[in-house]
Amino acid sequence: MPTVKFVNEKVSVEAKDGEDIRTIARKNGVQLYSGPHKVVNCMGFGACCSCNIALKAGSENCSKKGFLERINKWINPLLGLKLLSNPEKDVRLACQTQVHGDVEVETNPPINWHGDKFWN
Ligand code: FES
Repeated sequence: MPTVKFVNEKVSVEAKDGEDIRTIARKNGVQLYSGPHKVVNCMGFGACCSCNIALKAGSENCSKKGFLERINKWINPLLGLKLLSNPEKDVRLACQTQVHGDVEVETNPPINWHGDKFWN
């Protein structure tokens, strides 16, 4: 059984193999969304990009990026900015990321406007 550790919340939970991180977070009371997205989001259909997370460890234990994640980085400004400003992090959509082993997750990674690589 995979263990998912939400590092900001200091919560570790057991998950089913193949379960997505959004479902795991919701089952265990971990808030993935910020601001208005707490109420308005696409409910896991991979369209709004508000469930973005950064994988701190265990990327190899997660599913590969699917079509929605690959296309949204070009068309959704929220996900695009998070990816651009966090090049050292593995930014993913929680609703599109299934776990198959232990992972560490940072919820809602900040946009790093002043990062070394953002304006280069
Ligand atoms: S909940 Fe909208 S993209 Fe994941």
